[in-house]
Amino acid sequence: MCGIIGIASNKSVSVNIINALKKLEYRGYDSAGLATINKGRIDEKKCPGRVEKLEKILFQNPSEGNLGIGHVRWATHGVPNEANAHPHSTEIVSVVHNGIIENSSELKKILEKEGKTFKSQTDTEVITVLLTEKLQNAEPLEAVFKTLGLLKGSFALGIIFKNYKDFVIGARRGSPLAVGYSNDENYLGSDSYALKSMTNKISYLDDGDVCILSKDEVKFYNSNKDKINKEIFTLSENKSEVNKGNYKNFMIKEIFEQPITLKTCLKEYIDKIREEINFYNLPIEPKKIKKIVLIGCGTAYHSCLVTKYWLEEFTNLVIETDIASEFRYRNNRFDKNNLYIFVSQSGETADTFAALDLCKKENLKTCSVVNVVESSIARQSDCVLPIHAGPEIGVASTKAFLGQMLVLYLFSLKIGEVRGDLDNKKYKKLISNLKNLPQLIKETLKEEQKIQFIAKDIHNSKGSMFLGRGSSYPIAMEGALKLKELSYLHAEGYPAGEMKHGPLALIEDGLPVVVIAPKDKYFEKTLSNMQEVIARGGKVLLLTNSDGKVISENIRFQIDLPSSDLSLTPFIFTIPLQLLSYHVALFKKCDIDKPRNLAKSVTVE
Ligand code: G6P
Repeated sequence: MCGIIGIASNKSVSVNIINALKKLEYRGYDSAGLATINKGRIDEKKCPGRVEKLEKILFQNPSEGNLGIGHVRWATHGVPNEANAHPHSTEIVSVVHNGIIENSSELKKILEKEGKTFKSQTDTEVITVLLTEKLQNAEPLEAVFKTLGLLKGSFALGIIFKNYKDFVIGARRGSPLAVGYSNDENYLGSDSYALKSMTNKISYLDDGDVCILSKDEVKFYNSNKDKINKEIFTLSENKSEVNKGNYKNFMIKEIFEQPITLKTCLKEYIDKIREEINFYNLPIEPKKIKKIVLIGCGTAYHSCLVTKYWLEEFTNLVIETDIASEFRYRNNRFDKNNLYIFVSQSGETADTFAALDLCKKENLKTCSVVNVVESSIARQSDCVLPIHAGPEIGVASTKAFLGQMLVLYLFSLKIGEVRGDLDNKKYKKLISNLKNLPQLIKETLKEEQKIQFIAKDIHNSKGSMFLGRGSSYPIAMEGALKLKELSYLHAEGYPAGEMKHGPLALIEDGLPVVVIAPKDKYFEKTLSNMQEVIARGGKVLLLTNSDGKVISENIRFQIDLPSSDLSLTPFIFTIPLQLLSYHVALFKKCDIDKPRNLAKSVTVE
């Protein structure tokens, strides 16, 4: 998955392309490149590594031209090197691509038989070679349509042509693509976020659409080549100028922002006067829901798992959860009376989007929980529940996770109450408890110093385990995922009660084991599981809320977290896990905001 940008202007475009690429780095950052039309030829510059490196190349050797395309890459076909970086150009055409061309090897074989040569190992280069061929006897738009007709898979494309210095062509199938409008300048971008510093007037391409972007106008065509009009949206207040402030990096800033983001979210959904949760436009009447299915990837999937426990507590509904990349290929028993909820920070994750698309095609009722309200997933679902966390830049999700859980917690309460499954008095009490949540998180953040100390102790370990029961089990999984993502230390999140059925074999002297044990109905059982770990040499970090009472002498570290209503423990117990992974990664000198091999928004399968 990658990020693309295109600009048609009456002035030089390379600086704006570089700035937009920096915003798109959350989609991939293993190589970067741009191409402009300069003095009648294609001027292509690219390199493995970050946009900063490309910027330095341009500083030495500027790219002129009023028309250009740019790209940040997350490798799918071919290692990250200069040859595989985008754009992919021939003398007459240059292409940037986000997505995967599934039939690229077949096409390549045919083209090679015809004597065509390739410079890279990418799937994208077949598009360049095909276009070059079609352009011999077709105008650009026709050549593009002919080429698209041969491609299988997903793409968002930006294309420039040596002999047509006035326009960029964009095309979308499967991967997102937005168009932005300004005076004497128009833009193409993988998302509106990349364009926000330049414009707040945006249109979105739908699947099969192609656009021709010149400095004065943008023309749109559907897959039948008919000219179409697009709605122009005005984006909400410009939030694009995020910066780290006094923090070392975005992740730690985002961790410490959580009391504020939760407060904002609560304000959006809770009517303080009536002590009521406001949810509008649910696509199905709660009493008619037969089953709720929650779907997401990565951290977002973990918030689905926690929600299963809440929904089972507050409603008598049947709840199912699934990883989007599994859901989309299963033989699902779809039902029109089910509600399908898609959870995604970015709202662009390809697997989650495809799962949603599948449900839309089956005419099912869908709802999305997203951070980016202009995203593809938000626009495609019947109802959107934003998490109001503000832009999340660190690749490892933190504040968005708490935001997702909060919206889903409110959703669980509301559905329980409307269905009559949750007693009204308890409903009101739980709503009222929520006003303390931001303060509880603030207090929990004060444990940072202790956690720093623990991180120093464990950062050289060769592995680790995270254990929990009930809703603390998905929190253990999230803690393990954070540690893996950030510090490259092997970590497994496991249900504490399941240890004896295999993973106990992994416990050896000094292995760090994080035990998540709030004083809930599982408390005693989790402690027994913990003792089994200690007996085998495990070095235990116990997270609990036992008001300072020492649980066992053999525990290496014990951290006492604030007590709250038990249903809120997933929020509180996540905080030390975020801080732990952060500090372990810091000790290991890892790239905190951009961990190796990952990307913020995974827009390929
Ligand atoms: C990527 C990120 C994860 C994230 C997942 C889902 O893999 O590295 O941190 O949880 O995508 O992203 P989404 O935007 O759909 O929540």
